[in-house]
Amino acid sequence: MNLKIAIVYFSGTDITKTYARVIGDALSQSGHTPTLVNITPYSAREGDFTVADYDAFIFGFPVYADFAPRVIDTWLPTLNGQEKKCATFFTYGGRTTGYAHYHTKMLLDKAGFQVEFTAEFLGRHSINIAGWDAVPDRPNEMDFAVARDFAALVVERFSQNTDAAFNLQKPFGYDTVIGVKAAEKPRTERTWMNPVRVADECSLCRLCEDECPTQAFDADTGMSDPQLCIECLHCVYICTDEVIKADKRIADHYSSFLSDFNMDDDFINQKQSRLITSGLQAAF
Ligand SMILES: Cc1cc2nc3c(=O)[nH]c(=O)nc-3n(C[C@H](O)[C@H](O)[C@H](O)COP(=O)(O)O)c2cc1C
Ligand code: SF4
Ligand code: SF4
Repeated sequence: MNLKIAIVYFSGTDITKTYARVIGDALSQSGHTPTLVNITPYSAREGDFTVADYDAFIFGFPVYADFAPRVIDTWLPTLNGQEKKCATFFTYGGRTTGYAHYHTKMLLDKAGFQVEFTAEFLGRHSINIAGWDAVPDRPNEMDFAVARDFAALVVERFSQNTDAAFNLQKPFGYDTVIGVKAAEKPRTERTWMNPVRVADECSLCRLCEDECPTQAFDADTGMSDPQLCIECLHCVYICTDEVIKADKRIADHYSSFLSDFNMDDDFINQKQSRLITSGLQAAF
């Protein structure tokens, strides 16, 4: 059976995109038809996404502060999964995937998808672009081997006509965190992570505006709107003149980030990418 599989991904600094491609290549090599669907730009989530065009789905997202990017919370509920099979994967910068597996599965369940399993893959931390040094050499060949195992499991599970129940335990503290997030007021102050243009002028290619996932960046003023910005650093990553930056003080924060979470470089570099096929609680 040839399966038409949409690999739907969001990617700020190309880590999730890289894994999506590795998985897509493995699916093609095993005789299936993957389509990469990049939902990072705002405009991509405004267009029609036709669930009926595919047999099954893979959803791949980076972890931002223990969850998939918040734009996913608003986009997934617009879909009707028609009880089609899907698997999820998350990329993360060596700290934790937090509530991402569980929360995203809840959203997909509600949207009518049948989630079969999930996975988490290491990727250099997005904030390395602003001076951090978290898992700088990932993904490596071992991570990609796990991604190819993920593709093989997709073929195995999606080819079967079975309803394998996949339940994830609710992670400790989930309800409290959801309550805190619901009560959060829109941010009006800029954070160190809200990028700005640091040069007076640039070539005005407008990529920063066109590709910002939340329409937060204004190419004319060179400023990001703190209320809209999700701190993905995509504008820093793609700026053709390399003049968009996050605040320099972020780099100094790396050592306190490690100590706040009782980690060191050895600890995070030893983390392994993995498939999650039973109801394990996501590791913190
Ligand atoms: C705002 C923000 C929050 C992040 N939060 C986490 C986190 O909670 N845990 C973690 O391990 N990595 C975290 N990361 C790192 C990313 O999850 C990781 O680098 C990911 O692979 C980036 O994928 P992308 O390039 O596809 O966006 C965060 C990155 C950003 C920009
Ligand atoms: S991406 Fe960079 S060069 Fe292009 S308009 Fe934005 S700030 Fe200017
Ligand atoms: S302005 Fe914010 S949301 Fe937009 S690309 Fe830059 S970091 Fe991401």
